[in-house]
Amino acid sequence: MSVMRVLVSGGAGYIGSHTVVRLVAAGHDVVIVDSFANAKPTVVGRLEALTGTDLPVHAFDLTDKDKTERLFATEKFDAVIHFAGLKAVGESVQIPLDYYVNNLESTFSLLRAMRRHGCDLLVFSSSATVYGEVAPVPYQEDYEPLSASSPYGRTKVMIEHVLRDVAGIDERLKVAMLRYFNPVGAHPSGTIGEDPQGIPNNLMPFVAQVAVGRRERLQVFGGDYPTADGTAERDYIHVEDLAAGHVAALQWIASHDRKVSTWNLGGGRGTSVLQVVAAFEKASGMPVPYDIVGRREGDLAAYWADPSRANAELGWRAERTIDEMCADTWRWQRANPDGYPD
Ligand code: NAD
Ligand code: WQD
Repeated sequence: MSVMRVLVSGGAGYIGSHTVVRLVAAGHDVVIVDSFANAKPTVVGRLEALTGTDLPVHAFDLTDKDKTERLFATEKFDAVIHFAGLKAVGESVQIPLDYYVNNLESTFSLLRAMRRHGCDLLVFSSSATVYGEVAPVPYQEDYEPLSASSPYGRTKVMIEHVLRDVAGIDERLKVAMLRYFNPVGAHPSGTIGEDPQGIPNNLMPFVAQVAVGRRERLQVFGGDYPTADGTAERDYIHVEDLAAGHVAALQWIASHDRKVSTWNLGGGRGTSVLQVVAAFEKASGMPVPYDIVGRREGDLAAYWADPSRANAELGWRAERTIDEMCADTWRWQRANPDGYPD
């Protein structure tokens, strides 16, 4: 395995920060670029403590193509892992243009600079949301046509098409598109984790904030789905498994000729909302009171990944159980009840 110099866009964010730790552990040189639109600068000190290394950080918005170009003109990168993007589904319905501009233009800036400066490996954060509403479960990578029901999701569909088109004519560029299912959990040290601003949109951080006493009760959206206990099922994946998947995908595309690779990163099974609540109560020893309320608009009943392609090609699998996901989330939440300090 060759050592690479990797630019991690969005490296101060939730999944990016965990991936930075894994990349350094695998021997790679890491440089972070992040606008800090959805991250606190104090994460960087935590990452330096965890990795035992100085991490160069460039704080700017990648939609600024001149700044992006200047970064690539002054530093040489072998690869980019592109996490940077806005990700809140509901917010994307309210401010769609901001989502299209941010997610697409940051990708365009990177692609231009990579091409001009001979950086030929790109790993992109896609999402299970690109399977749309009617794909058969479990989701398989070859399913078409991609579609999504929110502006956020459509940015992922669009970027997947852009990357395919660009890699199709660029002789050197190789791309990995990683479709994540539901990332949860935190580094086992409890020093880095997910730090949503305001009221969490996602289940696990909401449950964790109820358990730690920051919020009173969970609302369970929908108790009448056609599932075993009536609540919706998702494929939760520990962020540490996800981070390992990025390192494996990067190393795979560096050593194979295929131009475009798409891999589902999921565990391959569904877990219901009430199963998550029960696992969290067990892991934390704290009660998580809840009310079952109406369904949330746009939610699907149940889906999970077919992860067999990533299992076979990358030799990777999601190893951590829902109990470990809850235990690690709890360790982070208990030690940092208000998230990262300012
Ligand atoms: P996050 O918000 O914690 O991290 C994204 C980081 O990108 C943040 O630190 C933010 O400040 C930065 N950023 C945003 N726009 C930028 C820009 N224009 N220039 C520079 N930096 C910018 O989110 P995350 O959960 O770590 O997600 C990472 C990626 O994975 C995103 O692309 C997201 O869409 C994708 N994804 C996330 C999930 C999930 O449930 N968390 C699921 C599927 C896909
Ligand atoms: C999980 C389950 C909710 C909160 C989202 C994006 C998806 C991807 C991952 C980026 C659902 C239920 C939730 C609450 C609840 N992100 N829930 N009460 O919606 O599966 O996926 O994040 O690409 O695109 O849509 O994740 O964590 O919001 O919800 O009952 O307060 O928990 O209804 O069944 P979701 P989630």
